[in-house]
Amino acid sequence: MIGGVLHGREKEQAVVERLLDSARSGAGGVLVLRGQPGIGKSALLEHAAAAAADFRVLRATGVEAESGLAYAALHQLLHPVLDVTARLAVAQADTLRAALGLQPADVPGRFLVAVAVLALLSEAAREQPVLCVLDDAQLADRASMEALAFAARRVQCDPVAVLVAARDLEGRDFDTAEMRELRLSGLGPGPAAAVLAERCGAGLASSVRDCLVRSTGGNPLALLEAASALTSRQHAGRDPLPDPLPLARGLEQLFADRIRQRPPEAQLLLLLAAAEGAGHLGVVRRAASLRSVPGRPHPPLRAGPAPAGEGSGALPGGRGSGSAGLRPGCHGDR
Ligand SMILES: Nc1ncnc2c1ncn2[C@@H]1O[C@H](COP(=O)(O)OP(=O)(O)O)[C@@H](O)[C@H]1O
Ligand SMILES: [Mg+2]
Repeated sequence: MIGGVLHGREKEQAVVERLLDSARSGAGGVLVLRGQPGIGKSALLEHAAAAAADFRVLRATGVEAESGLAYAALHQLLHPVLDVTARLAVAQADTLRAALGLQPADVPGRFLVAVAVLALLSEAAREQPVLCVLDDAQLADRASMEALAFAARRVQCDPVAVLVAARDLEGRDFDTAEMRELRLSGLGPGPAAAVLAERCGAGLASSVRDCLVRSTGGNPLALLEAASALTSRQHAGRDPLPDPLPLARGLEQLFADRIRQRPPEAQLLLLLAAAEGAGHLGVVRRAASLRSVPGRPHPPLRAGPAPAGEGSGALPGGRGSGSAGLRPGCHGDR
C-alpha cells in the first residue's frame, strides 16, 4: 500500500465515504467492517481517517491485555474529548468520569454510561463532526462495546460517524444488530497482482504471481508476506516455489491463535483438512471417522464465508479457497 493506495477497494471506500458525507450533513451512522486477519480492515480504517480531515477523529484499538478491563477501550477512544464533559449535565459528566476511572465513585450502571457516551459524542460534534474509529473490536472489553454500540445506534441526527473493524466470527458478544456490516473478502486477481507488483517490481514472473494470488485467495497480508519470503530466483520462476507457501510468523500466528480457540475435535478436523491439503471433503470425512470425530464442518470452523465449493466436496482452506494461513497454522507443534 505505497502512498496509501488501496488496490481493489473502490466499492468499500465509497461506502465509507458515504458514511462520512452523511455524518457531515448531520445524519450520523455506524459501519462495521468484518473480515479475516490481513484482509485490509485496518488499511480501510486508515483510509477513512485520512478522508475525514474535517472531522475530530477519535481512535481506539482493542487489545487482549485490556479485554477484561471494563471501559478500557472507551477510555482510549474518548480521552481527547473529555474536556467536553464540562458541558454535559453534571450527573452525566460524573457518570462518565466514574466509568473511566477519572473520579472515585461506584461504577455506574451500564445504561447510564451508554447514555452519557451518546451525550458526549453529540456534544463534541457540535463543534466539528466526529469520527470514532475502533480497530480490532474483537479484543475490546465488552462494557465499552455495549456503550459504543448503544451510542452508535442513536447518532442518526448528529454529525457522528462510527467505524468499527472486527475479525470474522469473533467479537466478544459485540452485538451488531441494526448496524450496517461490510465484509471484506480477498482482492480480485487484478488488484492482488497490483499489490504484488508494488512489492516485487518487474522481477515477478506471471506464473509465480498467479500462483501467489490463487493460493492466498487475495488476502493482502498473505500476498505481501508470501512474496517477501521468496527468493529473487523464485520470484523470477527459476526455482520452484515451496509447498505450502511460506507465511511469515505474523499471519501464521493469527490463524494458529484462532485455531487454538476451537474445541479439540474442531482442531483435529482442521489438522486433517490441512494435512489433506487439496480440499477434498470426502477424504477428510473418512479420516475424521477413523478418529471418531464427526467429519462435518460446522459454522465456527469456517475461516471465512461459506466457500463456493461447500456441499460439492470442497473444504474451506483447500487450495485457492482464500483461507490463507489455515494450512500452516494447523501444522506444526503449536
Ligand atoms: N487493498 C489493499 N491494497 C494494498 N495493500 C493493502 C490493501 N489492503 C491491505 N493492504 C496491506 O495489507 C496488510 C494487511 O492489511 P491490514 O489492514 O493490516 O489487515 P487487517 O487489519 O484486516 O488484519 C497491510 O500491510 C496493508 O497495508
Ligand atoms: Mg487490523
